[in-house]
Amino acid sequence: MLRDRFGRVHDYLRISVTDRCNLRCMYCMPEEGMAFADSAELLTYDEIEEVVSVAAELGIRKLRITGGEPLVRPGLDGLIRRLASIPGIRDIALTTNGLLLGRAAASLKAAGLNRVNISLDTLDPARFRLIARNGELKRVLESIEAAADAGLTPIKLNCVLLRGINEDEIPAFLRLAYERPLHIRFIEYMPIGHDDENWKNHYLPLGRVLEVAEAEGYRLFPIRERTASGPSDDYGLEGGAGSLGLIHPVSDQFCRRCNRLRLTADGHLKPCLYWVDELNVRPAIGDREALKAVFGRAVDIKPENHEMAAKLFGGAQSHKPTERRMSQIGG
Ligand code: GTP
Ligand code: 5AD
Ligand code: SF4
Repeated sequence: MLRDRFGRVHDYLRISVTDRCNLRCMYCMPEEGMAFADSAELLTYDEIEEVVSVAAELGIRKLRITGGEPLVRPGLDGLIRRLASIPGIRDIALTTNGLLLGRAAASLKAAGLNRVNISLDTLDPARFRLIARNGELKRVLESIEAAADAGLTPIKLNCVLLRGINEDEIPAFLRLAYERPLHIRFIEYMPIGHDDENWKNHYLPLGRVLEVAEAEGYRLFPIRERTASGPSDDYGLEGGAGSLGLIHPVSDQFCRRCNRLRLTADGHLKPCLYWVDELNVRPAIGDREALKAVFGRAVDIKPENHEMAAKLFGGAQSHKPTERRMSQIGG
C-alpha cells in the first residue's frame, strides 16, 4: 500500500501522455506557447503499461489520463485498452479540452474508458478564443453531447474562474447545472510554474460562487461524491437536474485528503502538483522491484501541503515550487 508520512493512502495515479496541446489557455500556458518535449523523451505506451502494472500491485485503483491535451497523442484508445486489462485497475477517466473528443468518444468507451472531465470556461464563442487562444467552443459543446451519447458518464465540466474574465458567467453555469444532468466544477486559478501578474490579477476565490448562487435564488445542499476523496466539494441544487463542485486549493486547501500521484509524460513521478520534487522512473523500467522502490520513495518524500496562498501575499516558500507549467504536469 502507498501510505505516506501523514497517513494518506494513494490509490489514484494521474498519467500525462503528452505535454502538447491544441490550445494555449491563459491559465495554463504562456501566450507565446512553449517548446514541447521531443517524442523520444515521452514514455512509450509499453513503458506506461509497465509502470501502471507495478502501481496496481501497490494499490493504485484509479487512473486519469491527462496532457497537455491527451487526445493529440495517437493511439490513445489502444493504451486505454491495455491499462483497463491490468488487474486491480477499477476506474479509468480522461481530462480533455474536448476539441478532439467528439469523434473519439465511442471508441474510447469501447476501449474501457469510464468517464471524462471536459474543460469549459465560458459559454461565449468570442470569449472562448480569448481564454483558450485557439479552437472553437462549438466543437467542445458537440463533444459533451458525444460523450453523453457514448456513456462516458457522469460528465464533469471544469470551469476555471478568472476574475474580470468569466466571473460574470457564474449565473449561466449555475443555470446549466440546474437544467442539465451535468456536474459543473468551478476551479480556482492556481499558480503552477508561475505566479505572475496574470495570476494575481485574475485569481478569484470560490466563495464568490456561493454568494452568486444565493443571490440567484438557488438552494444548494452538500452531497458526497461517489469518488469521495477527490479535491471537489460537491453540491446538489434543489429541484435541479445536475450538480456543482467547488475546487478551491488556494482559499481552502484539501491536501489532507490527497490520494494521488502524478506521472509526467517525460517519465517523472510527482508526489505533489505544486513542489519541484520528482523522481525519474525511466532508469527503473524493466525492473519491477526498482519501479516499486521509486513509488515507495515518492510517497516517502511527499510534502504535507502546498503553499499557494502564501504566493498571493508575496510570502516566503518553505521549499522550491515546480517550474513546470500546468500543461507539463496535467493538472
Ligand atoms: P475526479 O476524479 O473526477 O474527481 O477528477 P479530478 O478533479 O481529480 O481531475 P481533473 O483533471 O478534472 O482536475 C480538476 C481540477 O482539479 C484541475 O484544475 C486540477 O489541476 C485540480 N486538481 C486535481 N488534483 C489536484 C490536487 O491534488 N491538488 C490540487 N491543488 N489541484 C488538483
Ligand atoms: N489553475 C487551475 N486549473 C487549471 N487547469 C489548467 N491550468 C490550471 C490552473 N493554472 C485545469 C484545466 C483542466 C485541468 C487539467 O486543469 O482547466 O480542466
Ligand atoms: Fe496533494 Fe500536493 Fe495536491 Fe496538495 S497540492 S492535494 S499535497 S498533490
